[in-house]
Amino acid sequence: MSSPRGTVPQIVVLDTGGQYCHLITRKIRDLGVYCEIRPSEIEPAQLEGCRGIVISGGPASVYEDGSPQVDPAIFKLGAAVLGICYGQQLMAWHLGGEVRKGQRGEYGLAWLELSAAAPLFEGVSGRFSIWMSHRDTVTAVPPEFAVLGQTETCSIAAMADPARRLYGVQFHPEVVHTEHGMEILSNFLFGVAGCERDWNPRAQALRIEQEIREATAGRNVFFFVSGGVDSTVAFTLCLKALGPERVRALYVDTGLMREGETEFVTGVFESLGQGIFAVEHAEERFLGALQGVTDPEKKRHIIGEAFVGVQQTILESGHYLDRNWVLGQGTIYPDTIESGGTAKADLIKTHHNRVAGIQKLIAENRLIEPLRLLYKDEVRELGRELGLSADLLGRHPFPGPGLAIRCLCSEQRAPVERLEQGWLAPVRSVGVQGDSRSYRPVLVLEEGLADAGIHERAGSLINGLAGINRVVALAASHTPVCDWETRPAWIDALRLGRLRRADAIVRRLCHESGFDQHVWQFPVVLIPLGPAAHPDSVVLRPIHSVDGMTARAVSIPPALLSRMCGELLAIDGLNAVLIDLTNKPPGTIEWE
Ligand code: XMP
Repeated sequence: MSSPRGTVPQIVVLDTGGQYCHLITRKIRDLGVYCEIRPSEIEPAQLEGCRGIVISGGPASVYEDGSPQVDPAIFKLGAAVLGICYGQQLMAWHLGGEVRKGQRGEYGLAWLELSAAAPLFEGVSGRFSIWMSHRDTVTAVPPEFAVLGQTETCSIAAMADPARRLYGVQFHPEVVHTEHGMEILSNFLFGVAGCERDWNPRAQALRIEQEIREATAGRNVFFFVSGGVDSTVAFTLCLKALGPERVRALYVDTGLMREGETEFVTGVFESLGQGIFAVEHAEERFLGALQGVTDPEKKRHIIGEAFVGVQQTILESGHYLDRNWVLGQGTIYPDTIESGGTAKADLIKTHHNRVAGIQKLIAENRLIEPLRLLYKDEVRELGRELGLSADLLGRHPFPGPGLAIRCLCSEQRAPVERLEQGWLAPVRSVGVQGDSRSYRPVLVLEEGLADAGIHERAGSLINGLAGINRVVALAASHTPVCDWETRPAWIDALRLGRLRRADAIVRRLCHESGFDQHVWQFPVVLIPLGPAAHPDSVVLRPIHSVDGMTARAVSIPPALLSRMCGELLAIDGLNAVLIDLTNKPPGTIEWE
């Protein structure tokens, strides 16, 4: 069973800017059909040979200037087409139907009443629950189309021209809340488009190993590993494909890592094989370059450049391998898409897998990315198959720039300011609002952490107060909030030490209590906020997420929080423990 690499896949998902585009692709792969994402405006000729096209949902209105479009010729290629949400509206719009703004939006659960049979709904009938998220709606179907189903507020919730195999649904079959969603997608793949099963995420190891042998063509592979799941799985595949003589892994200690991290990574790689792993100590270089820097994007660029500098020096030195090498990276499919520029997204934060040095290697055909077609859960599955430990595979994501983007800095001295709703703290963090980046101060609530509706309240405070993008609540402190201020503070050994200690305490307590199994990620952030005797505070940011694109702030069980506060406030110089109540959007997961 192989992926049709280098050819047009059986199914192509056209991206119209919807957050569910990756989800559609994953669900189709879960059904056993390999598919890839392409920009919606792709030339129809590049789709020739595929069996089915899915047009994703998206936030725009088809009748507005600049909205994502498709070339109407895609409807004449002879491939089956399924338009989902905005995709259905695009289909109606281009083929002679009508799309209008609805009387009211329809968000969340709705009931679909099927009124006509069609292959898309084979085995499904009557009335069932679906997930909707739309304001615009198709108000007249194109010629030759029939209405297949409706909801209370949407009279054309599904439509089709079965003879041309063109289908549209206003709801989202790809989300778990749609009853029969997988059956509908499966009907489209096998019943309508005539696909064959060609993908099994649990059988990729042999295919990828073969691909690595071909792509390296006798050359060796060099990896910079981080200890994360992706680079470790990619490296292990290369090790299996080429043998220990031809692979080397190097871990760069930037001085920005968590407590015990270098030892953990060393342990993992030494258990994979002798003599294949080394640590490069570059702490001084990174900390030196970050001296006096406050701006988050500047920090990211400095770290990115320092990393490339270290990489370049090592690769050119021939110290670890001779010149007959290619560089391996653990890039996965969502990163490939983002860096390839097909995602219709504003730059919120800089990504590192396509910096200039890497582009040069690509041009020289000296880069391999064995996981570039896989999603994170497919990589974990592969890792299990390769025998990597559950401890490693279950690790929470950790950002490349490390603790630097969790150690906030400040240039000036400024006090907190009393507002009607709480305290405005002069500490800014990055957020994502209306699909664009924001960089704003945070609101501190002195009370109310235990209230049931505190997260909703935080959400409405952000919507109501123009100047902020984040809300935190006080869990414990040495001093009252009215005495707090920021003072000039940068990344230095003392503050990094405080953060590292705090992070280690939180990680240990989460692990012991099992709470780490209930969150997707749990950043601990150090902010320069407090009186002179206790100049820093920590923010706890436990979140739920599926892919890091959106996230929900999670409550910490009271007994666990109380233990955390007790241990954290014993750290020298720490003033307070705060809990981040902000979802993403409007806050990002990391503070910078
Ligand atoms: P944000 O803060 O943008 O983060 O909501 C989303 C997810 O990405 C991780 N992250 C990074 N990972 N290099 C990485 O490898 C980075 O520069 C980076 N920045 C953010 C973050 O931890 C979260 O899981």
